[in-house]
Amino acid sequence: MNEEKELNIKVNPTSNTAITTLIMLANAKYEKALEILEKMGVEKETIFHGVDPGDMINRPSDIVRELRYVALNRTIEESGLKTLIDLPCGYTPKVFEFTEKGMQYIGCDLPAVINDFSPIIASMTDNEQKKQISFRIVDVTNYESMKAAADLAEGPVCIATEGLTVYLTSEETRQLGVNIRRILSEKGGCWLNADVETLDYYMAVFRAVAGDRAMELLAAARKGFSGQSDTDLHKNNAAVVKSSGGSLATDYEKIEALYRSRGLLVEKVPYFREDLRLHLFDAMTDEEIERLKENMKHVNVWKITPDPDFKEEENAVWDSSEADIDTELPFEVKSSLRDGLLEMSIQGRMDTITAPQLLKQFQEAGEGITGIHIDVSRMAYVSSAGLRVLLIMYKSLKDKDSFELTGVNAAIREIMETTGFDQFFLKP
Ligand SMILES: C[S@@+](CC[C@H](N)C(=O)[O-])C[C@H]1O[C@@H](n2cnc3c(N)ncnc32)[C@H](O)[C@@H]1O
Repeated sequence: MNEEKELNIKVNPTSNTAITTLIMLANAKYEKALEILEKMGVEKETIFHGVDPGDMINRPSDIVRELRYVALNRTIEESGLKTLIDLPCGYTPKVFEFTEKGMQYIGCDLPAVINDFSPIIASMTDNEQKKQISFRIVDVTNYESMKAAADLAEGPVCIATEGLTVYLTSEETRQLGVNIRRILSEKGGCWLNADVETLDYYMAVFRAVAGDRAMELLAAARKGFSGQSDTDLHKNNAAVVKSSGGSLATDYEKIEALYRSRGLLVEKVPYFREDLRLHLFDAMTDEEIERLKENMKHVNVWKITPDPDFKEEENAVWDSSEADIDTELPFEVKSSLRDGLLEMSIQGRMDTITAPQLLKQFQEAGEGITGIHIDVSRMAYVSSAGLRVLLIMYKSLKDKDSFELTGVNAAIREIMETTGFDQFFLKP
């Protein structure tokens, strides 16, 4: 792995999760998924974990991914919009599905994914197809990066989200909503979010194949995925509640109210269609298919549009964390090392796109660092990727008291307090 990719993955390991989705689609016999994997150098033999009917972990997990893929693609098509912003694109073959249907395709993801994926797709497409396809590095918490991608669109956009929000903190999910509202207000179109009902589409599949053992097997499947990212699925979703019987459920009214308060209106589009067909139906019994179809009737893609009556100023409380600092400042890290003390200052937004610069400078400072002081008074925002780098630096010190952040402004303090990082970085 080259140095740049290594830094990118350290800063945000969620990029690893995209390969799993691709493997699952390949396992469900999506030809283009297989081709992409081959181009990535993955051996065919390692791809197929098979569709053993007795495998109650991999088989339902594959069905979950294919179901979500098919349901979301169908909803994208039905939107009638001409441009798809795939946010995040991961390595999925959606690019082929939609360019074949004549849509403009804009694939957006973190640097580790885009740097790998865009040359692969370039090698699989002819000049005509290439005209319809663009890739952009986007961190969904970073409005400028999203706007740059959206500006490639020729008209109103369909923003499709699949397998993203379970990896975001609640603050990052808030930013995503704010950014999408700004983009849709300007360009028109809609946001199709297949993630809100994650727990329910997993349950729909696991109940169809595993009946009463669904919860137990779902928990085992989730455990298997937890090594791919340091963000635990659902941990950040405050709307997931435990019922008195101990089973999990999502409080959809709460989520909808949150969207509404951010100027976003919700319409629910069921996953179910009479003529729905999955490749993996071949690996299911007729009873399982019938049960799945029944369960799916209660699961929805959320179609989200900006509320035309929303008044930004009245609701500015959502953006107040950014109010006391200039968010336009370009990202910059300065550092100097003297007698083992590394002194740094950070300016601008520290997110997945910019945080590798800080990690690089820290690594270049070498061994033997005994203290780290960072002036963050001009840091406008820090995402979980930035916090992750600060944590790597903090953990590298023997004496944790010699790590100090100075000039912590209100915006950064609020983020640290809500994520619990204040216990490491903010001295009482
Ligand atoms: C489970 S994958 C899903 C990818 C794709 N939608 C699919 O279905 O295969 C999660 C993706 O989210 C991306 N991601 C995580 N945090 C992100 C962020 N802050 N901004 C943009 N993409 C992000 C990761 O790089 C990864 O590709």
